[in-house]
Amino acid sequence: MIDISEIYFDKTIVLIPQGNIDLRFDTILKRCNIPDMGLCNAVNDIFEINYIIKEGKKMSVKEIFQPNVEFSKSARIKSMAEYQALQDEAINDYEGFWSRFAKEKLDWIEPFTNTMDESNFPFVKWFDGGKLNVSSQCIDRHLDSKANKTAILFEGDRGDTLKITYAELSKNVNKFANLLKNELNVKKGDRVVIYMPMIPEAAYAMLACARIGAIHSIVFGGFSAEALKDRIQDAEAKVVITADGAYRKDKPYMLKPVVDTALSGKTPVEKVLVVKRNNEEIAWLDGRDISYNDIIDNQSDECEAEIMDSEDPLFLLYTSGSTGKPKGVQHNSAGYILWAQMTMEWVFDVKEDDVYWCTADVGWITGHTYIVYGPLAMGATTVMFEGVPTYPDAGRPWKMVQDHKITQFYTAPTAIRVLHKMGEDEPSKYDISTLKVLGTVGEPIDPPAWKWYYESVGQSKCAIVDTYWQTETGGHIVSPLPGATPIKPACATFPLPGIMAEILDPKTGKKVGAGESGYMCITKPWPAMIRGVWGDEDRFVKSYFGDVKKDGKAVYFTGDGAKYDEDGYITITGRTDDVINVSGHRMGTAEVEAAIKKYNNVAEVAVVGKPHEIKGEGIFAYVVLKEEAEAESEMKAINGMIKQEIGSIALCDDIILAPGLPKTRSGKIMRRILRSIAKGEKITQDISTLEDPSIVASIESMVNG
Ligand code: WT7
Repeated sequence: MIDISEIYFDKTIVLIPQGNIDLRFDTILKRCNIPDMGLCNAVNDIFEINYIIKEGKKMSVKEIFQPNVEFSKSARIKSMAEYQALQDEAINDYEGFWSRFAKEKLDWIEPFTNTMDESNFPFVKWFDGGKLNVSSQCIDRHLDSKANKTAILFEGDRGDTLKITYAELSKNVNKFANLLKNELNVKKGDRVVIYMPMIPEAAYAMLACARIGAIHSIVFGGFSAEALKDRIQDAEAKVVITADGAYRKDKPYMLKPVVDTALSGKTPVEKVLVVKRNNEEIAWLDGRDISYNDIIDNQSDECEAEIMDSEDPLFLLYTSGSTGKPKGVQHNSAGYILWAQMTMEWVFDVKEDDVYWCTADVGWITGHTYIVYGPLAMGATTVMFEGVPTYPDAGRPWKMVQDHKITQFYTAPTAIRVLHKMGEDEPSKYDISTLKVLGTVGEPIDPPAWKWYYESVGQSKCAIVDTYWQTETGGHIVSPLPGATPIKPACATFPLPGIMAEILDPKTGKKVGAGESGYMCITKPWPAMIRGVWGDEDRFVKSYFGDVKKDGKAVYFTGDGAKYDEDGYITITGRTDDVINVSGHRMGTAEVEAAIKKYNNVAEVAVVGKPHEIKGEGIFAYVVLKEEAEAESEMKAINGMIKQEIGSIALCDDIILAPGLPKTRSGKIMRRILRSIAKGEKITQDISTLEDPSIVASIESMVNG
């Protein structure tokens, strides 16, 4: 145990470790007087505290980093005054603000007649009457001025590169669109599932769908056949676009066999379009499977863009919620593409000659908005990378920055932690001086990772934009502006202009004061907001508009807790629901539980999150078996079931074979207790109301000895 001489929490934390630094978390919390652990999921706080203990030195969480003066001079938003002026414009004339940008930023085939219609809230319409096509926004309108500019800069796992100009992108997408239309009979409104590696054809597929008005639904390549099947069926997809596979760490991996398994049995899918990437042998079903490479060059490179209404759906993207079944988040055309472009311009401040790289996978919303739609809508050069950042070594990203003269780099805290751990000094081995803006997304970033990112990657001159948003928001909602916002480490700072994001007290609907925890809400509809949960209106309304009311009116609730500091800066503290964040990916505990329950010897299961050094949160499962069996093989079987039902991304870090679960007399599982035990905290809360209080002690001793 260490002796803590002084701890202040909230403003400055000072821990003076003396001796062994093995301190129990609950002791720290108590001494730090952290209020309301229920709201404060504490991922951030844990890291802060760990950091202080490890380093044994003082760190003020109030430390402020001013924007780089040179950068600010040419930034789109140059100061907090300019930021405030924009936000005031939105506050004073909300529709006027959005109408101005929609006219300035988008090319309309027919102008819109009504900026926002919220008469049927939460079902809202933006830019009604307007007609446009998203693929034209991303391609056609750049052809006059940027035909020979690189649109997509691809780097393969094995270092192969390919530059695709806007003119080439146009041809490739038009051919792809013709292929979908003429060979696969895809029509406006049809759903197309894309299960692809990170290769340019994935972007062509998205844009080709947009061109003909088909609704794409990308399923991340790490999802299992079962997960893919669920998503195909929920969306009633007619076509699947996939590849034989791709390369990872210099070895081929396969996707097509997963599609084959997903389509065994009854399926709405008529055709599977297969792109060649690794040329490995694959099974072939004549009549269903179509080879992209065999027929793409027969297609005309002109395909007239479908004239779309502003509110025609653009895509679905399935994400986890607090129940077992993933939700098909629906985004529509005009509002989404507008905000994708505006946030690209404001938050990354990409300039004409810049090379911008977002390391996400197109299977997540980050890949949609910030690899494909946002960068291309603004006419930027976007990097697409097939490989993993630590292969062949942890210097790979920095070598890529050097080779391609990358100016903006956008990644997730989990990747930063890995790169830091595996290659602390790697950035200094390369010329990464071209970097101007660094971004992070997906989970709260912890101060040690932030500090390394800022100093070693950003050379203490780049702004770090900690962008807070979600699949449902379409684009960033709370983020620093690199030329304007004085940054506090690990802090998402302020709502972007036009976004009425507020931290509210869920009970009163009033804005919380400095230091108090509350719910991160958005009090007015915004153009890129989720339009629905595919096929489930009720779930849409209940999931997002059921928890918080402001002035008697339901507002959008993100599911995240947050707090303001004394300067009004927003810090996201983590989810308030049964959703955990594993390596920046949202995972519903109910979804993992449902998978585990499929294993026949499982009687009961409860899944919670536990802080994890690299992943942010790890998955911790308490399982009650039906019949006693050998622990090791049961745990293997449970993880095997998860791999089959969801994919490796949901594997448990810990499985405890418990004698029972702590439940109230009405049968509700007390997850709070299970969360505390997983974290190694001592249970101090009243457990006398439990059905069988002795369960807590036995689980506690199993987990924490
Ligand atoms: C959830 C959304 C948004 C793209 C990637 C994940 C968490 C996201 C931050 C951030 C703290 C963050 C939230 C959010 N989150 N960005 N900068 N700071 N938390 O998209 O799968 O829809 O997950 O990720 O909990 O609700 P997603």
